[in-house]
Amino acid sequence: MNGYATPLFSRADLVVSQHYDPSNRATIYLGDCLDLMSDMPEQSVQLAITSPPYNIGKAYEDVMDLEAYRDQQDQVIAACDRILRPTGSICWQVGNYVDGGEIVPLDIILYESFKRRGYKLRNRIIWHFGHGLHCKNRFSGRYETILWFTKSDDYYFDLDPVRVPQKYPGKRHFKGEKRGQLSGNPLGKNPSDVWDIPNVKANHIEKTDHPCQFPVSLVQRLVLSMSQPDDLVFDPFLGAGTTAVAALLNRRRIAGAELMEAYHKIAMDRVKKTLSGEIKVRADKPVYKPEPTSKLARNQWTGEELSAQQELGL
Ligand SMILES: C[S@@+](CC[C@H](N)C(=O)[O-])C[C@H]1O[C@@H](n2cnc3c(N)ncnc32)[C@H](O)[C@@H]1O
Repeated sequence: MNGYATPLFSRADLVVSQHYDPSNRATIYLGDCLDLMSDMPEQSVQLAITSPPYNIGKAYEDVMDLEAYRDQQDQVIAACDRILRPTGSICWQVGNYVDGGEIVPLDIILYESFKRRGYKLRNRIIWHFGHGLHCKNRFSGRYETILWFTKSDDYYFDLDPVRVPQKYPGKRHFKGEKRGQLSGNPLGKNPSDVWDIPNVKANHIEKTDHPCQFPVSLVQRLVLSMSQPDDLVFDPFLGAGTTAVAALLNRRRIAGAELMEAYHKIAMDRVKKTLSGEIKVRADKPVYKPEPTSKLARNQWTGEELSAQQELGL
């Protein structure tokens, strides 16, 4: 179960629709995102979050040249712009396209598409993770980025739901007018623009057959800070439905499109499990760091001893 004291949804909200209607709690469309967006009214979406195809030849991709990729993404960004509210945000999560050993940072390639439409970049969030390919001719890549753009200066943002624990929670001012008062915000500190969240690899609790999921807790920070309950969250490239899970767990509405039937099925399954309270997600908590000197490291949450394999996160 999800741990909420009251049920997340009413019976009517437990329906997952395949076609968009403003009254839907969840629309999980099988097909091209541009088709879904053409059915959605102007200014209906508070927050668009996505990790688009990376143009790097995954099972679901036709590798195209960079110009064609930029044009295709530009069309999707234009369509997102039409359906986004003036107070809304767009979060585009991308990594690097690798071409014969040269890396091309896709956020740099796509930045202009947003800027040309008057969008303002509020953060370029670095998502750092611990696992990936080991490179021989360059340093191994261990981050991707999230470009967070707002449509206007009058944008919705609430830091409080995503604050993280202070390093020294009880620390107080020791001199001056504020002597004795807490020196930090009791609700926690700003999580900053560098987020250390494990990527979804084989042993991750959220792993499905999709080759390229992002973690729910990454999306959850965006959902909680940039939208309010019952707002519509949109993901044009839904994949295994991670944005849908994060939106629904936090009582938002979701619409998203997925082109491939196999991934659409996975997304539907995860959404249904979310609505029924059966979905399992990794909590947004610090990444475990083994003590370098320990004979057998302990899990920092439970105190249990870890095997060497667990210690290495395998
Ligand atoms: C990087 S993956 C997204 C993964 C997703 N963030 C998750 O956590 O599962 C991109 C997805 O976009 C889908 N896709 C590609 N072109 C599409 C299009 N035109 N419309 C809808 N989905 C598309 C691909 O099949 C792929 O599953």
